[in-house]
Amino acid sequence: MPTASKPTKQKLMSILDSYERDKGMLVAILQDVQAEYNYLPKESLNQISEGLDIPMTQVYSVATFFKAFSLKPRGRHIINVCLGTACHVRGAGRVLEEIGRQLDIKPGETTENFRFTMETVNCVGACALGPIVVIDGKYSGQMKTDKVKALLESYD
Ligand code: FES
Repeated sequence: MPTASKPTKQKLMSILDSYERDKGMLVAILQDVQAEYNYLPKESLNQISEGLDIPMTQVYSVATFFKAFSLKPRGRHIINVCLGTACHVRGAGRVLEEIGRQLDIKPGETTENFRFTMETVNCVGACALGPIVVIDGKYSGQMKTDKVKALLESYD
């Protein structure tokens, strides 16, 4: 079974070095690590703690405080289905269901092959184009259930 990519110590060290191991840059460092792996692998938290010489509890509390960080492996592509009011009244719930049906996952889950993680958000600021689905930061507006298959197929 495919697995999520694992961090290498070398990669981690180069991220830490790019911030000159500045303890005050912890959030930015965590963002870079997550951008690399799509989540925060436990090993990376240990290495950050050692590399910045700060307690693991501090790294962990920052990593769990921000909703944007994930401690669970996530897919190569992150799908955010907007369930804000404007999207909801235009059928976002059906779009969410259809994506979940095609990928066989629920919101917050990742496909077994680590291709997709599906999450929900409440308004991404493009209400006039709803329902909106955002994949890896790219917006697709006026989504309908019959457009879901082609959208998903455009990601490897
Ligand atoms: S409610 Fe979906 S973009 Fe605003």
